[in-house]
Amino acid sequence: MQALTSRSLARSSRSIRAFSTSPGRWQAEPLQKPVLQKEFKIYRWNPDEPAKKPHLQSYTIDLNQTGPMILDALIKIKNEIDPTLTFRRSCREGICGSCAMNIDGQNTLACLCRIDRNASKDSKIYPLPHMYIVKDLVPDLTLFYKQYKSIKPYLQNDNVPEREHLQSPEDRKKLDGMYECILCACCSTSCPSYWWNQDEYLGPAALMAAYRWIADSRDTYGAQRKEHFQNELSLFRCHTIFNCSRTCPKGLNPAKAIAEIKLALATE
Ligand code: SF4
Ligand code: SF4
Ligand code: FES
Repeated sequence: MQALTSRSLARSSRSIRAFSTSPGRWQAEPLQKPVLQKEFKIYRWNPDEPAKKPHLQSYTIDLNQTGPMILDALIKIKNEIDPTLTFRRSCREGICGSCAMNIDGQNTLACLCRIDRNASKDSKIYPLPHMYIVKDLVPDLTLFYKQYKSIKPYLQNDNVPEREHLQSPEDRKKLDGMYECILCACCSTSCPSYWWNQDEYLGPAALMAAYRWIADSRDTYGAQRKEHFQNELSLFRCHTIFNCSRTCPKGLNPAKAIAEIKLALATE
């Protein structure tokens, strides 16, 4: 075993504290970080307790004993303080779209949103806005998925090729910035037109998905897809305010896709 010199001991003591438990044996003890308490105010509502109105519940945790993301804080609160706190999550890396919520005024994914380490400022967490709530931070996405289904989000082409539908690299490139959508609903629920007309206006997520298939060189149902939007509300309720693109946690631009559909309809 390599001898522990005074120089190497001095170097290691900068990051750890070394101490001896018995003659000739050394163990490392991690340095304790100072406590950094931060308050999280979280929206609570339970349909099984109708007498209790929706309210913000306060939880305080030590940021130095928590992972860096808002989802880490929520999991710590649920595991160690309040198991009744309800929220969706799965992948914890921005892929499944299930942890979308409104954090300090912005729709985003809890697993991609860093905790603001300014402990003097609380963090407020609400469910996605203007949605019916199932419980706490869980919105009802039934209508959102129904709208997605209505745009037929799959390849339509009556010519069945022998092996596969071929696509040039240039045509494939046209789908970049759209196929990455994870259907988190951050964009649609940040859109004022969607808030007030979601029974008829499809919203930016479903509309971008529609354009993703209109733009796909392998799909031959573009005319029928566009026909779907020849009415006042399902597409034209978009007023190009760009809230949707500003909030998308994947950096996509649904407002641009909507503008492309409008252009395609205007130039037919
Ligand atoms: S476009 Fe962005 S914000 Fe909208 S559903 Fe897709 S990933 Fe979420
Ligand atoms: S650009 Fe259109 S879809 Fe996006 S937030 Fe504005 S109105 Fe909604
Ligand atoms: S947990 Fe999957 S996107 Fe956040």
